[in-house]
Amino acid sequence: METRAAVAFKAGQPLSIETVTLDGPRPGEVLVEIKATGVCHTDAFTLSGDDPEGAFPAILGHEGAGVVVEVGEGVKSLKVGDHVIPLYTPECRECDYCLHPKTNLCQSIRSTQGQGLMPDGTSRFKLNGEPILHYMGCSTFSNYTVLPEIALAKIRKDAPFDKVCYIGCGVTTGVGAVAFDAKVEPGSNVVVFGLGGIGLNVIQGARMVGANKIIGVDINPSKVKLAKQFGMTDFINPKETPDLIEAIMDLTNGGADYSFECIGNVNTMRQALECCHKGWGESIIIGVAGAGQEISTRPFQLVTGRVWRGSAFGGARGRTDVPKIVDWYMDGKINIDDLITHKMPLDDINKAFDLMHSGESIRSVIEF
Ligand code: APR
Ligand code: ZN
Repeated sequence: METRAAVAFKAGQPLSIETVTLDGPRPGEVLVEIKATGVCHTDAFTLSGDDPEGAFPAILGHEGAGVVVEVGEGVKSLKVGDHVIPLYTPECRECDYCLHPKTNLCQSIRSTQGQGLMPDGTSRFKLNGEPILHYMGCSTFSNYTVLPEIALAKIRKDAPFDKVCYIGCGVTTGVGAVAFDAKVEPGSNVVVFGLGGIGLNVIQGARMVGANKIIGVDINPSKVKLAKQFGMTDFINPKETPDLIEAIMDLTNGGADYSFECIGNVNTMRQALECCHKGWGESIIIGVAGAGQEISTRPFQLVTGRVWRGSAFGGARGRTDVPKIVDWYMDGKINIDDLITHKMPLDDINKAFDLMHSGESIRSVIEF
């Protein structure tokens, strides 16, 4: 079949809207009509050329929602008409990782996914007879796309595509880091570094689980209003604070129970660890630092009981947890609507990247 898609031909160049050919699903695969997709920093990172795994030409996009159109041989868990969210972290429920209780990083299709290919080592997309690569196993910047069955979460049918697509990456990354990875207990004092899309989702996750203080740290005071609406109780601007760590210690009576780094800066990662409470404070890195960068601290910080860890896709096991997060949204436990600041058709997708780079948007959503 043919489908419209935004193709990334080269690093650093705008996406180009093309009609591409898409082969149908092979055994274990599913054809999905994408109804809406978010545009995320990770797409921009790959498009910039800085992503060591990035390869072109490719169809980017990994934050979508849509409907099953056709299922390949042997597909059991999905049928035509099901509503789904694509998963860049799949859940096969069979590999060593899926069977281990401490991780969500299913590895069953990791190597081919990293190469931009389906698990059988080929691509389903072509333009003028030449293959186009998949991206993060999703390629949601295409109106139709093919995914492995294990990379699709089945969701309820009354959930709006243009909102729940954000659960495919940003919402789950932030809310999940609190709920599934850190397992923040009610009454905890939480510090959130960076009040962008990820940080705001961490804040609302912390509110949802009943945190006590939720302290936001950002150099841009224009973020305060929305952060308060999402549950932030206190704000610190490091530019106006002589000693950031001391200010956090004062507000939390000795340090954070949990801190989350949602910037991707190795200096704030250190601050996030060192503002944690001696003996038990845990710091979770979510932000992605530039290629080749390294973190540092004095080892005594860890010897004296602070814990440094990271979180990917919010620790969520996609097929199991993503439908739960959709329920949280539908039940009004989390707010997605106010984070989607811009909507546009596929033709205007490059505007979504501009809005992200200028810091004007929290999330732009493309509706097909
Ligand atoms: N100290 C405090 N706040 C900072 C600093 C700093 N040194 N540098 C940037 N910030 C703030 C910005 O003002 C902004 O509000 O961090 C926030 C980052 O927000 P976004 O740019 O919207 O980024 P977001 O989408 O939330 O992603 C954050 O997670 O997914 C990764 O690649 C992404 O590494 C990035 C991080
Ligand atoms: Zn993403």
